[in-house]
Amino acid sequence: MATVKLNNIKKVYPNGAEAVCGVSMAIENGEFIVFVGPSGCGKSTMLRMVAGLETITKGDIEIDSKVINNVSPADRDVAMVFQNYALYPHMTVRGNMAYGLKNRGLAKAEINTKVNEAAKMLKIDDYLDRQPNQLSGGQRQRVAMGRAIVREPKVFLFDEPLSNLDAKLRVQMRIEIKRLQRRMGVTSIYVTHDQTEAMTLADRLAVINDGRIEQMGAPIELYNNPKTLFVASFIGAPHINLIPARFENKKLVCGNLKLPGFKNLPEDIELVLGIRPDFLRPDTKGQLEIQVDLVEQHGADNLVYGALKNSSNDTELCFKTTQNTLPDIDSNLKLKFEQKHAMVFNKSTGERLI
Ligand SMILES: Nc1ncnc2c1ncn2[C@@H]1O[C@H](COP(=O)(O)OP(=O)(O)O)[C@@H](O)[C@H]1O
Ligand SMILES: [Mg+2]
Repeated sequence: MATVKLNNIKKVYPNGAEAVCGVSMAIENGEFIVFVGPSGCGKSTMLRMVAGLETITKGDIEIDSKVINNVSPADRDVAMVFQNYALYPHMTVRGNMAYGLKNRGLAKAEINTKVNEAAKMLKIDDYLDRQPNQLSGGQRQRVAMGRAIVREPKVFLFDEPLSNLDAKLRVQMRIEIKRLQRRMGVTSIYVTHDQTEAMTLADRLAVINDGRIEQMGAPIELYNNPKTLFVASFIGAPHINLIPARFENKKLVCGNLKLPGFKNLPEDIELVLGIRPDFLRPDTKGQLEIQVDLVEQHGADNLVYGALKNSSNDTELCFKTTQNTLPDIDSNLKLKFEQKHAMVFNKSTGERLI
């Protein structure tokens, strides 16, 4: 169990690439933190600096209030799980899980107890004598987690551990990781580009953009109250509806549409109106109108897509409905939103204005 602190950490690779541009955060004991962001935004670099696999160009990292910048990876008491499992191919599952403990000189009986316990917890106790190539992808990922668990580290570090698994297994493993982390209470940092994984796993998540934290908070806080266009677009599935707009004569103008109810916006800049698909619903008095072009039935939820009418550009809108009567393709449909669910952003800076 441990706290982790990043104090204005920076990473410039020898080739001059600035991967991390000053990131600070305080992680509490037992917290599950997720770094989420698009590929190349610096997530792995940050995690590898915590693990000690990359040097820190500037700033420092503390574990339990002790600066660990110059502590070797083996002495940091962290365990990392990678996307590609990184198992030793010529060793059995038991051998892979026991390896780190043997290196530390633990007694054989103690190693066996720890490996057996972890294997049971991960439901791989029937495979302990197999080699990695005799296991499925999901089982291999469990072995990689088992190897981390037996070390009883202060901090778990996960770098996209589920990316190589098929969709169904990914969901199953996601739930298991969350349960295990709850049960063990080990401080964890988990890196992913997948917003669903981030939303479902995190106690708090940090949305990373271009080496910086764009926003950090509880998943629902970021969903309900994104501070920037980037966060609003990255978090949420289906994707938030974004409509180009300007503020003219006290109305929000989107093409030929004039929307009342908006106040105190700058008149001279390009804006973006954002409304989540959950907050649009069919209503004959709706402010927006679409021509339906696609209906996706997901079971309980249905997603309806269509082109926004009277707008100057090709804006596609999506809304979510649980109703059984679905609109016909090509039909026109008015959609209503409550003013409180409308977000407005400065298009060029991404800053949220409303
Ligand atoms: N060893 C390296 N040398 C130079 N640049 C690197 C190295 N590793 C990563 N980068 C660059 O740093 C940036 C962040 O990479 P990374 O942390 O791997 O991103 P992510 O994990 O979010 O996809 C990228 O632009 C990447 O090209
Ligand atoms: Mg990465």
